[in-house]
Amino acid sequence: MQGFGSYEETYRDFDWQKAREMVGYREGEVLNIGWYCTDRICEMGLGEKTAMIWEGFSGETEKYTFNDLRINSNTYAAYLKSLGIKERDRVCIFMDKLPDLYFSFLGILKIGAIAQPLFSAFGEEALFTRMEDAESIAILTTKKYYRKVRRIKDQLPALKHIIVVDDENVKLEEREKTFILKNAEKVDEFDVFPTHSESPSVLHYTSGTTGKPKGALHVHGSIFAQSVSARWALDLREDDIYWCTADPGWVTGTSYGIIGPWSLGVTQVIYNGGFGSEKWYKILEKYGVTVWYTAPTAIRLLMKDGTGLVKQHDLSKLRYMCSVGEPLNPEAVHWGREAFGMPFYDTYWQTETGAIVISNFPGMEVKAGSMGRAFPGIEAVVLDLNSHEVINEPNKVGLIALKPGWPSMMREYWNNEEVYKSKFINGWYITGDRSSIDPEGYFWFVGRDDDVINTGGHLVGPFEIESALIEHEAVAEAAAIGKPDPVNMEVVKAFVALKPGYEVSDDLELSIMNFIRKRLSPLAMPQEIEFMEKLPKTRSGKIMRRLLRAQEWGEEIGDTSTLED
Ligand code: PRX
Repeated sequence: MQGFGSYEETYRDFDWQKAREMVGYREGEVLNIGWYCTDRICEMGLGEKTAMIWEGFSGETEKYTFNDLRINSNTYAAYLKSLGIKERDRVCIFMDKLPDLYFSFLGILKIGAIAQPLFSAFGEEALFTRMEDAESIAILTTKKYYRKVRRIKDQLPALKHIIVVDDENVKLEEREKTFILKNAEKVDEFDVFPTHSESPSVLHYTSGTTGKPKGALHVHGSIFAQSVSARWALDLREDDIYWCTADPGWVTGTSYGIIGPWSLGVTQVIYNGGFGSEKWYKILEKYGVTVWYTAPTAIRLLMKDGTGLVKQHDLSKLRYMCSVGEPLNPEAVHWGREAFGMPFYDTYWQTETGAIVISNFPGMEVKAGSMGRAFPGIEAVVLDLNSHEVINEPNKVGLIALKPGWPSMMREYWNNEEVYKSKFINGWYITGDRSSIDPEGYFWFVGRDDDVINTGGHLVGPFEIESALIEHEAVAEAAAIGKPDPVNMEVVKAFVALKPGYEVSDDLELSIMNFIRKRLSPLAMPQEIEFMEKLPKTRSGKIMRRLLRAQEWGEEIGDTSTLED
């Protein structure tokens, strides 16, 4: 694949047709991500190359070649097909970062079905909302999590198969089954479903300000953008050992934890464990990681433990480090230089964009605090907040907008055409983020244009939290906002008015926090609850979340003329 020359030249000479050629695709041909990341890599003579080095949280390791990836994904594909699952059916994956997650993801794509990854820490309610909306037909899970599904399955009539993949001895109830890859007859040849570049592939749910989470639907053609950006923005080359720390329950973990790197035949390290500075440096050292893709919250935690700890490890193989998900503080870029001898390269994108759209590139000057410049093939501008005219003037803050047409852009929000349409104004896709742009085309992130909470790089919708809060027996009214946090950028803070007969107490506060953690996820759990007599509302009765947020951040409150007396 063509290398990255100077930014200006590459940007000028590139169009998406070139990306198709770079990945060897001819118009009208079958295009299937599952096949492309496995069979095709084997056809290129890389079948015996290591695709996945996996380490579990207690230190156990497993290794798989691209040929293993091919056969194991075939085996999953054949099994799912034998259940009658077919093209466009939604199949959820709900497990930790186990090898089966990766095999099944590719297997689902091979039968033309839609892979719907769900974050394993989701509670029942978060799970239910996403599976009900998608009318998912099957869910692949493990003994650790299947009970969560069992508790909601009666309310999910479309769900036909609950498949436990790591324990044959589960006492099965109706609709439940087990499938243990190591005991299954391996499938060497599988007729991949003839998907093409516009066939649906992956469905990722993402949170908005109002309403339930929305399912951003991607297509197999997304691989063109994911592959080129993995090459150019993450600087991946054939002999790299690459570690993406993201979970495939979130889009980074699929676009750059599966599709981008494997489409290039790159070896990936997958660590199925949590964060720990010492542990992470050990992983980098032990496997000789050369390219590392992580997030600002993790970088801030590493910074806390100091440069000394970095220096105690041999990280001489590491040559490129990238970041995504939240604003990367200038200090983190400087610290990268000091501790590792190189900066962190920031990248910006969204679930909806499917691939990196603004980025720093190897060889390009990194301006600490900036997200970088538009990816080749992407027209990115700043629009005036009100008129939606292009402003592109230094220090003028507006909305980041993108000209639609790149291959990995979502094709729809599942079942939600209205909200999908509302994202486009005057022919621009509105990202919902605010930024300015400098004369050299570098974007300087300012914040979100809505109330979505970004905690540790994960978006959490206030509406989803508020809906869950008022299901608690003691809660009459509730609002959720993001509150500044030195490590996670934001954490959830809830404002709650209690029902008559309930008294504020530490126990009650804990009970509400735990209620949210269990129903939604640890990310959505409020770190603080402020109890109020009643919440500020507009005259029409809508809770003024904006006002609570402004108070918390010490910002101008703005127009309060619609506020209830
Ligand atoms: O607000 C921006 C923030 O994360 C949002 C997208 O989140 P999600 O769809 O979950 O995808 C995350 C991984 C791609 C954006 O709208 N965001 C993402 N990258 C950056 C960022 N904010 C500042 N700087 C970034 N580099």
